[in-house]
Order: sequence, then C-alpha cells, then structure tokens
Amino acid sequence: SLVSAAEMTKKALAGKYAVGQFNINNLEWTKSILLTAQELKSPVILGVSEGAGKYMTGYKTVTAMVKAMIEELGITVPVALHLDHGSYEGAYKAIEAGFSSIMFDGSHYPIEENVAKTKELVEKTHSMGLSLEAEVGAIGGEEDGVIGGGEVADPAECKRIADLGVDILAAGIGNIHGVYPANWQGLRFDVLAKIKEIVGDKPLVLHGGTGIPEDQIKKAISLGVSKINVNTECQLSFAAATRKYIEEGKDKQGKGFDPRKLLAPGAEAIKETVREKIALFGSANKA
Ligand code: G3H
Ligand code: ZN
Repeated sequence: SLVSAAEMTKKALAGKYAVGQFNINNLEWTKSILLTAQELKSPVILGVSEGAGKYMTGYKTVTAMVKAMIEELGITVPVALHLDHGSYEGAYKAIEAGFSSIMFDGSHYPIEENVAKTKELVEKTHSMGLSLEAEVGAIGGEEDGVIGGGEVADPAECKRIADLGVDILAAGIGNIHGVYPANWQGLRFDVLAKIKEIVGDKPLVLHGGTGIPEDQIKKAISLGVSKINVNTECQLSFAAATRKYIEEGKDKQGKGFDPRKLLAPGAEAIKETVREKIALFGSANKA
C-alpha cells in the first residue's frame, strides 16, 4: 500500500541521501520504476503532474493502477504516490482520489497567497496522514504547461512556508525543468546553504533533476536536499531506445510490432535510468 513521503524524506535527511521522485506517464513507466526500486531496495516517490494525470484519464485511474501494481508485483519498498506541481484545485482532487502525498505549487502566487493556501493544505493533508510539499521561487523552464520564472528563492520566504509545517520544501536555486541550456551557470549553492541555515532540519527538494552533473547532485544532498525529481531523463531514454528499435527495423521482424515488444526496449531503458539515479542519490538499501 501507499505511504506518505514525510518519513522517507526525514530518514533521507538524517542519512544524507535523497529519495528519487520519478514521474509516471503510463503503465510501462510505473512498472519500470516500481520494479527498479524493489530491485535496489530503495524507497521511491511516483510523481504525477496534472498533465500526466489527465493523460492517464484521471487521478482515480492512477491510484487504482498504482495500488494494484504494488500488490501484484509484490512491491515491499515504501512507495509514495505524489501529485507533482499541483494547483489548489488539483490538490483537492488528488487527495480525494487517494494520493498519499501532495505538492502544492503556489510559487506563482504573491507570497501571502502562497502562505494562505499552503497553510490550508498542510492542515488538510496532515489530517489525513498525507505529506505536503510546497514551493518557493518558481523553478525555471516548463513542465507539462507549468511554466516557472526561474527566479532564485528568497530564504526569508522559504522560512515562512517551512514554518507552516510543510513536510518537504522545494526552492528555486537555479534549477530548471527539462534539459539544461549550454550556458547554464549551475546550482546556486550559496542560496541553498542560506535556505538550509534559516529553515533548519527540513527536507529540501531539488526539482529539474535531469542533467544536473553528479558532483552538483552530491553537493546538494550534503547541503540538505532529501528528494530529487527526475522526469525528462526517463522520457529521453525511453524515446532513444524506442527510436533505436524502430530504426533497426525490429518492429518489422516477426511480431515486433506487438506493443508488448515495441514498448519493451523503452521500458528497459527507463529501468536503467532509474537504477543510475538511485545509485547516485544513495537511496539503495534504505527501504
Ligand atoms: O517536478 C518534476 C521535476 O522537477 C522534473 O524535472 O524533467 O527536469 O527532470 P526534469
Ligand atoms: Zn518540478
């Protein structure tokens, strides 16, 4: 069954590693991520953006699929089903559908409104045993129609949101969704250190995990990042493996066009990406 992300990220903070949030889009994504987390004995967070939720027909369908898959695959590692960059309305819908963790992304609101809505959702989620992630200082780039300004978070605003009792805090520190541009300046560790100093022992989240160099990931973890979100990288590896299969003409050999065969290389590629990330984040054998 599903668990909240509060305990796993608290443990990660204490143990100086990070739990991966891997976004799901369909059955193949979900199965690949769950099997890999189980194989490596790692806790895992399945992220669902509002767009992906709609694509999978709705949050209820997602919850039913994930719960059934956990049971039928015999998954025993902790799994959180987490709304990614949720709107205020979306948060309530995902709660109602049985998600175990919610991100309310109020970073585009004026800070007073972000505080008010986050406060309300902390109370709502905690009354049901769910975890809440909040965001300060929009992450740059675009993810499923959610466009971030890319500004760096104000540590004082982080403190205000953290003090509402959120379980995990996402703060913009120069991170961007999607592939990083060639002229990217890297993560703002000065800002991360200030945030850490002012908010204290609060698990921090690093969004835009795709393409951040390994040394920067490790440094971020050493400065209090306990959850790292990866989405685009699984999409890229899925697409590359699928392209290779088709370009090699394998879909034309035997029953190679059977979707179970056609989608298999991509599903394997997702597993490999998730394996690499779990190893890098240090969450293997922490379940
Ligand atoms: O919320 C999800 C993530 O921040 C994913 O970012 O697509 O750059 O890996 P990414
Ligand atoms: Zn994100």
